[in-house]
Amino acid sequence: AAGGRGCSSQRQLLSFPFGFLLFLSSGGIMFQDITTLLLEPKAFKDTVDLFVEQYTGRGISVVAGVEARGFIFGPPIALAIGAKFVPLRKPRKLPGEVISENYILEYGSDCLEMHVGAVQPGERALVVDDLIATGGTLCAAITLLERAGAEVLECACVIELPELKGRGRLNGKPLYVLVESH
Ligand code: PRP
Repeated sequence: AAGGRGCSSQRQLLSFPFGFLLFLSSGGIMFQDITTLLLEPKAFKDTVDLFVEQYTGRGISVVAGVEARGFIFGPPIALAIGAKFVPLRKPRKLPGEVISENYILEYGSDCLEMHVGAVQPGERALVVDDLIATGGTLCAAITLLERAGAEVLECACVIELPELKGRGRLNGKPLYVLVESH
């Protein structure tokens, strides 16, 4: 997939102060593509800096990124706030022992996995992804981290699709987003 699913009705460029996001249609499914943002170094840096500003000094020791695009935004945030980065991967990608969490998508089901021992009980975690739609993915990420004993402080995404009400599926965890797409 080029990017997260969205609800835009036509191809358009959405401009916001820190760069560009491309909204496009492919095979009847709407995508919101953050790769255009990555082509603008200042926009990419400004985006990461907004998250860093939000999470510096909050005792976060784990930044967990959701495959695939949480792997783009999560690591620079983790480095900047002095936290470790933990990849939450799709099935059969991690080489070690894992714990798994299944979840429902708009078009089927999927699963996230995390290495056993990557997170210690009591650690304070932030979950990062590019986009929240139905919230199923972030909900699975939160559950994985909590099963490992971590305390999930918050979730952070570049884009939220508020009409899909994913925010309400995050087990009460706060959600910080930079862009709402209606
Ligand atoms: C997209 C997006 C989020 C997820 C959000 O990933 O990057 O991870 O969907 O959807 P949800 O809130 O309804 O769960 P996708 O499932 O397309 O996987 P990919 O990153 O492997 O392309």
